[in-house]
Amino acid sequence: MKQGATLSIRGLHASIDSKPILQGLTLDVHAGEVHAIMGPNGTGKSTLASVLMGHPRYEVTSGTIQYGDEDVLEMAVDERARAGIFLAMQYPSEITGVTNADFLRSAINTQRGPDNEISLIKFVRKMEKTMQSLEMDTAFMHRYLNEGFSGGEKKRNEILQMMMLEPSLVILDEIDSGLDIDALKVAAAGVNAMRSPDRSFVIITHYQRLLNYVRPDFVHVMMQGRIVKSGGAELAERLEAEGYDWVKHECGIVDVAIEEEPQWAVPMQTVSPRGT
Ligand SMILES: Nc1ncnc2c1ncn2[C@@H]1O[C@H](COP(=O)(O)OP(=O)(O)OP(=O)(O)O)[C@@H](O)[C@H]1O
Ligand SMILES: [Mg+2]
Repeated sequence: MKQGATLSIRGLHASIDSKPILQGLTLDVHAGEVHAIMGPNGTGKSTLASVLMGHPRYEVTSGTIQYGDEDVLEMAVDERARAGIFLAMQYPSEITGVTNADFLRSAINTQRGPDNEISLIKFVRKMEKTMQSLEMDTAFMHRYLNEGFSGGEKKRNEILQMMMLEPSLVILDEIDSGLDIDALKVAAAGVNAMRSPDRSFVIITHYQRLLNYVRPDFVHVMMQGRIVKSGGAELAERLEAEGYDWVKHECGIVDVAIEEEPQWAVPMQTVSPRGT
């Protein structure tokens, strides 16, 4: 674990299926800091999260990612997890046949190494205690990972994983989407309980609402695959009130997305019922 380490991303370019998505992203996250990343749909936020975690579909074409003294781009996914990097995904995967408890125990043991495995009793106690704090029914321990979980239950389960794994760099991708108001408060309390001078957070969100509960030190706006504006918590408040137009205007951006006009797009009149 790289506790107290700085994440340093420099000029990151990444593509999927040869399509460039991240286009020169630079960001520093120091230990103890909470950074929120906001931005319109399709501007590369989840791509950044996936690239940080080492998703094999993304190709990093240039730039660097350092975490402490380690070159993250040289590390396999499991090495990144062992280094303390954790991603709560926007769309968590369902894994049939693997219970929530089995999954978490093997994740914790992988992190701890073969000579230092957590005892079953300690693990169960910790899991029960954490589930109680998240107001989760302990029956979720024995259900297959995310299978049939509601949207909100999946998100709460991601917070459970974070609290059990105690990572040093936490990336939360839209952890608030699908959570009801009470669940949002519970999840935010879980995040706040984990805040420490040794741990840093990158929180991707569309809504100020989460940031009312988890106060960020920095807020960044992503457009066209890079960070175009940064500020403090007040930036999120302004975005909530005014939207993104003023940022686009200030940065001279016409189209925020990476996507070009789809080739099948046709002018409206050619599909009008009168054939005009
Ligand atoms: N396999 C793919 N082929 C082509 N384009 C892709 C592929 N995967 C992702 N993209 C595109 O990459 C862009 C960035 O996607 P990403 O999921 O990072 O956006 P986002 O900022 O997280 O959006 P949202 O706020 O909606 O979650 C989108 O335009 C998406 O359609
Ligand atoms: Mg996304």
